[in-house]
Amino acid sequence: MNFQLTEEQLAVQQAAREFAQTELLPGVIERDETQTFPLEQVKKMGELGFLGMMVDPKYNGGGMDTISYVLAMEEISKIDASASVCMSVNNSLVCWGIEKYGTEEQKEKYLKPLATGEKIGAFCLSEPEAGSDATSQRTTAEDKGDYYLLNGTKNWITNGNTASIYLVIAQTDREKGHKGINCLIVEKGMDGFVVGKKENKLGIRGSDTHSLMFTDVKVPKENRIGEDGFGFKFAMSTLNGGRIGIASQALGIASGAYELALAYSKERKAFGKPISQHQAIQFKLADMATEIDAARLLCLKAAYLKDQKKDFGKAGAMAKLFASKVAMDTTVEAVQIHGGYGYVKEYHVERLMRDAKITQIYEGTSEIQKIVISRELLK
Ligand code: CAA
Ligand code: FAD
Repeated sequence: MNFQLTEEQLAVQQAAREFAQTELLPGVIERDETQTFPLEQVKKMGELGFLGMMVDPKYNGGGMDTISYVLAMEEISKIDASASVCMSVNNSLVCWGIEKYGTEEQKEKYLKPLATGEKIGAFCLSEPEAGSDATSQRTTAEDKGDYYLLNGTKNWITNGNTASIYLVIAQTDREKGHKGINCLIVEKGMDGFVVGKKENKLGIRGSDTHSLMFTDVKVPKENRIGEDGFGFKFAMSTLNGGRIGIASQALGIASGAYELALAYSKERKAFGKPISQHQAIQFKLADMATEIDAARLLCLKAAYLKDQKKDFGKAGAMAKLFASKVAMDTTVEAVQIHGGYGYVKEYHVERLMRDAKITQIYEGTSEIQKIVISRELLK
């Protein structure tokens, strides 16, 4: 693994950093307060190529490597994790899934507008009664010959209202267990498809998380991804890469909080000197910086393995497990370093602390990451 970033990777990192500072930072506190999705900003992210970074240029993508994606995700997440989860889902779940397993027609019709951000995608696996235990889902996709009849409810769906292209995982043949599950591409506007209410959340409050209801939605057979019964494997395989995105999001939340705490500690004076001169604060900063570096290396290792076309499932799960804990620990300490000021909105760290928590829950909870990792270890 090469520790030296290429010119191109550094340029992507710089572009993401500038975009986050100039376009995302203004208004991020208000969007959190009012639960407003960063629509204009996400449009600009599409124009800059951040929504289809790894997609082949022949499908309108950026043709970049996963390392560049990790670097960009970190920079965007430092400032606005609601924008970065939209970016992560679009890039590593929806675009990647269609590009890797879709037909040529699906790529032409769906991947091209997704890669430019002209359309936004959503990935719909979780249900009210089935989150971690994803095979126990109840949504059905009944085989009706040339179409599937889709019925059921998905919940917690990121980009739920903003999206117009949805990858929906549903049961076709319950008797076959996970081999009876399919993934269907569903378009907003199909008869019987209704977007439910937006969730009022602890963190990533700008992200639009919705439940989705499907009642007798007719989905053409040509919208199935992969062979009949491939849907669960599709979801698992796609999530392996998605977890690198969320790990990088956690990394960005942590490094954003650390940078704020470091700067604040040099300005704030107590007992006649900057608080950074007190050893208790210095040790907190040392722990934060060390853990963030370790999290970054795990993210980059998983990205490197993916780029090298090697197995990256375990590495991605390790990166997510570790980086999400670092995000929680670092943001809590960043609030502590800010004292009372850390507890109010203007200083950003309280939002980062609230945003950090979700990284231990979605795309597989930390307990599920341990299941994924230990299964690989014991193989
Ligand atoms: N990669 C590839 N294939 C995998 C896999 C992986 N990580 N994990 C399982 N599989 C395959 C298995 O090989 C198996 O196939 P075979 O029978 O052909 O060998 C099949 O999938 C079923 O596997 P298991 O028997 O291991 O399935 P299980 O019921 O025990 O569950 C699990 C395994 C890992 C716990 C899985 O259910 C899981 O990942 N749950 C978490 C769900 C999740 O992450 N949801 C995220 C929703 S999306 C989201 O959250 C987006 C967002 O917030 C922004
Ligand atoms: P449960 O599965 O009920 O778990 C409850 C607790 O039990 C957790 O601590 C869990 O770790 C633990 N647990 C469960 N099983 C085990 C076990 N075998 N061993 C040890 N502990 C276990 N889903 C999507 O499909 N698409 C999305 O876009 C999406 N976006 C989301 C956005 C937000 C803001 C949120 C909150 C969720 C989102 N999700 C999405 C859903 C998310 O992936 C699930 O919440 C997550 O997988 C956990 O499922 P659950 O909430 O049903 O918890």
